[in-house]
Amino acid sequence: MSLAVIILAAGKGTRMNSDLPKVLHTLAGEPLLGHVIATAKTLQPEEISVVVGHGAELVETLFADAGVSFALQAEQLGTGHAVQQAIDKVSADRVLVLYGDVPLTKPETLTALLDAQANDPLAILTVDLENPFGYGRIVRDAADNVQAIVEQKDADAAQQTITEGNTGILCADRQRLESWLSSLKNNNNQGEYYLTDCIAACVADGDNVASVMCNDEAEVLGVNDKLQLHQLERECQYQQAATLMQQGVTLMDADRIDIRGDLTCGKDVSIDINCVFLGSVEIGEGVSIGPNCVIENSTIGSDTSIKANCVLESARIVGNASVGPFARLRPGAVLANGAKVGNYVEIKKSLIGEGSKVSHLSYIGDSELGKDVNVGAGTITCNYDGVNKHKTKIGDNAFIGSNSSLVAPIEIGADATVGAGSTIGSNAPDGQLTIARSKQKSIKGWKRPVKKQD
Ligand code: UD1
Ligand code: CA
Repeated sequence: MSLAVIILAAGKGTRMNSDLPKVLHTLAGEPLLGHVIATAKTLQPEEISVVVGHGAELVETLFADAGVSFALQAEQLGTGHAVQQAIDKVSADRVLVLYGDVPLTKPETLTALLDAQANDPLAILTVDLENPFGYGRIVRDAADNVQAIVEQKDADAAQQTITEGNTGILCADRQRLESWLSSLKNNNNQGEYYLTDCIAACVADGDNVASVMCNDEAEVLGVNDKLQLHQLERECQYQQAATLMQQGVTLMDADRIDIRGDLTCGKDVSIDINCVFLGSVEIGEGVSIGPNCVIENSTIGSDTSIKANCVLESARIVGNASVGPFARLRPGAVLANGAKVGNYVEIKKSLIGEGSKVSHLSYIGDSELGKDVNVGAGTITCNYDGVNKHKTKIGDNAFIGSNSSLVAPIEIGADATVGAGSTIGSNAPDGQLTIARSKQKSIKGWKRPVKKQD
């Protein structure tokens, strides 16, 4: 049976108190709607249709390449009305309805719902709630068959005691759903066309409504305000931390790590507190990451130590390297095997060769360092003339004295030594000492100035 997924995402999200449409608020760095689309895709449906309304243009622009189509619900007249806007463009045998603001549903839960619908025209996903206030309630008969869903605002006192709530997620035969939707009325306390009225319509047709109960409330929780967004963010972060720990990663505190993207770790990786991982980050075996690091779109090869308070962005570390504390690797920084980058060092678009060291207070940009180079404290590559960027090349085993300025474009030869405090403006030959600073002198009889009397 072919499947279409309809995702409702037209609501404004008034309680978010934000100009951003609700489904564009992010969870683990990804818009809420992105999570739902990704989950929908795991079911390999023929089509995914997103019902947009508030901020439709922005939502459609941001998800233009997501492999989904959009249906506009210009006025939000209810969940039933929303599904109606999409269903006439759908041709699959059955339809699964998801919500753009319910981000943590697991594929296996949805698969169970799809399985339950195989023999009935309609299956609903329910949840047993400690506090069901606000939810539609599942009304069952004496034989436990689902009869209807009654919304909070329409429920009588007895119905309000029911703790089985409607998650809103359902799967239905497409043609049957179309006919139930076309007969919906809005004569209820909210004046809306309720998707949930399809349940009673199915029963009225003499058919059974199948149901699956979800045991984990977090899977079906929706985001209505910033507090709920925060709660789901923590839940999502903890789930990711738990997965890493199950894979053998040591986390100093599973509640103090944030992964906004994809983080993969080899064996025996340890990560200290307050680290943030953004985009795609790959960490090899035996790597240790100190506290307070921000690592984005980077690869860190095995047995590397990243010490406290480092910031890495689009960097590649081959392995056995030492970085930080307080180091910044900017895009295009490549550290060959065994390289060392110490405190208060910034590296941009540069290769630090095998075993080379930049240990203290340096800026290295647009540079290529050979093997076993030692860059002294405070060395700066002057890569920018105010208009263009230029390259610095440093040969194997060179030694750059502290507080040197290397004015690019420039080449420092292999085994070359640069005297401390030099401003090097032309190439330094292999194997020689190059020094560029005024000769030291001492002036006999010189007196310090004295303060004038008035
Ligand atoms: C809905 C269900 C309720 C269920 C609850 C679970 C109905 C009538 N009620 O209630 O049984 O317990 O979800 O959270 O379905 N939306 C649109 N267009 C509309 C209306 C809503 O796209 O015209 C979207 C909203 O953006 C939201 C979702 O549908 O993502 C749910 O709408 P909402 O108004 O929050 O429904 P509830 O009253 O919470
Ligand atoms: Ca809701």
